[in-house]
Amino acid sequence: MNITEYLENVRPLLDKRIREIAKTLHFSRLMLRQVEGGKRLRGTLTLLTCEALGGDIKKALDYAAAVEIVHAATLTHDDYIDKHKMRRGLKPLYAILDPRRAVLIGDMLMAAAIKYVNAEDGSKDALSDAIYDISRGAFLEPLNPTVFLRSLMSGKELQESYLMIIKLKTAVLFATASKLGAIAAKSSMKEEAYRYGMAVGEAFQVADDLSDITKIIKNEEIDLGTLITLGPLIAYFVGIKETIPLIMSGLIKLHDNTYRFPPETIKILKQAQTNALQFINDRLKIAKENLNSFPENDYTNLLKEYPDYAVGRMLEESNTSLQKPNV
Ligand code: IPE
Ligand code: MG
Repeated sequence: MNITEYLENVRPLLDKRIREIAKTLHFSRLMLRQVEGGKRLRGTLTLLTCEALGGDIKKALDYAAAVEIVHAATLTHDDYIDKHKMRRGLKPLYAILDPRRAVLIGDMLMAAAIKYVNAEDGSKDALSDAIYDISRGAFLEPLNPTVFLRSLMSGKELQESYLMIIKLKTAVLFATASKLGAIAAKSSMKEEAYRYGMAVGEAFQVADDLSDITKIIKNEEIDLGTLITLGPLIAYFVGIKETIPLIMSGLIKLHDNTYRFPPETIKILKQAQTNALQFINDRLKIAKENLNSFPENDYTNLLKEYPDYAVGRMLEESNTSLQKPNV
């Protein structure tokens, strides 16, 4: 079995549990809409980690579902914050309901997920820490490109903020997904699992951002969310000084799509591309190193395939089109 087959095999089980949970909630039609679709990368990671550490997949099913529901809740919020136009092949909830209600549906999903983890084995702490960190990460993101530009020019912006943001807003949930698998297996490898997931998640988010850079180089339209990420990213991968002209160009492009980036800014973007790719490769290596203390079995071998697979899916998805449903 390879990792693609593993995902396909466990997907019906995971989807069924997620659906059952969504159906118990108020406004179940909306809840179902929000939890459907998606690649199920995080929930699958919980199941696979559990199996690699000798646990029974059924014991990890509620934890995996909880992770995916938290993820769906964060996407519901994120779509509004970043004004996304599409999500999982559909219009985002904020665009069809109203932002107020979309945010509240996200809140309810978040709370519902917590019911499916336990206080006794540490899984409740793990999930609530993750929810806290995800919101903290989103909070640390610049409010808008202009505010970021101002703090850059006043010397208040740190070059490292990007790493902190991607860890919190994305990598922590992968880390927690894997840790919950270890908890379900009653294994002592919880920290190794967490660090493994963290490295995967960092690579995954940089891959997502990398595809934004590629789109900008290709002179495609730029959205607000992209421009918000771009500042900390360029500061981290190229330098603070180089970030100022980049954001300025981005702001022009946001308002006038006929604008073309000057060659100097394209050069900066290409530098960021190269360094981001190097970062991804480093994290993929770190992820696999964290599996050294895992028992040797077929599932651990699948965990070795998972990081490249997850990053590959992200790159492939963004290279084709964000409009495409990810099933
Ligand atoms: C999207 O995550 C949000 C990011 C952290 C980049 P996924 O690409 O895993 O989203 P789904 O679950 O497959 O829709
Ligand atoms: Mg995004």
